[in-house]
Amino acid sequence: MKPAGIGIDLVEVSRIREMLDKHGPRFKERTFTSGEITYCDSCADPAIHYAARFAAKEAAAKALGTGLWNEGVNWTDIEVVREDSGRPVLVLHGAAKQHAGESACLVSLTHTRDLAMAQVMLA
Ligand SMILES: CC(C)(COP(=O)(O)OP(=O)(O)OC[C@H]1O[C@@H](n2cnc3c(N)ncnc32)[C@H](O)[C@@H]1OP(=O)(O)O)[C@@H](O)C(=O)NCCC(=O)NCCS
Repeated sequence: MKPAGIGIDLVEVSRIREMLDKHGPRFKERTFTSGEITYCDSCADPAIHYAARFAAKEAAAKALGTGLWNEGVNWTDIEVVREDSGRPVLVLHGAAKQHAGESACLVSLTHTRDLAMAQVMLA
């Protein structure tokens, strides 16, 4: 049977901005893929877009089943890729992909200057 699930997460942009200011490249590389870093750094205010992707990873963890971080899943195993239209697509790698099995993983992002939110559905 395909695993099904839903997850949502809300992130304060200031929290991510602080991580970026304090831990810069180390935080980026541990948490985000090179494609995510390239996109976020190309934006006028990268912290907003990093926050949305951070929320997407947390929301995906909820959809896939909590405790994921203790089961060999890395932050970079959950990646937000952009289509040409700007629509985000969730691509799973490694242990995250194994957890999802044959299920499709859908994501939607939204953000203001202060808050970023993601919803993920595993169907
Ligand atoms: C796609 C769209 C809905 C985004 O809305 P928005 O309020 O500007 O943006 P939000 O802050 O809510 O969300 C931004 C996120 O939307 C996502 N997004 C962008 N284009 C998208 C698309 N074509 N489909 C789905 N999601 C999209 C992205 O993930 C983006 O975040 P990112 O840049 O960090 O990847 C908007 O740009 C758009 O095309 N609106 C059309 C609205 C319209 O036609 N209204 C008519 C009735 S009033």
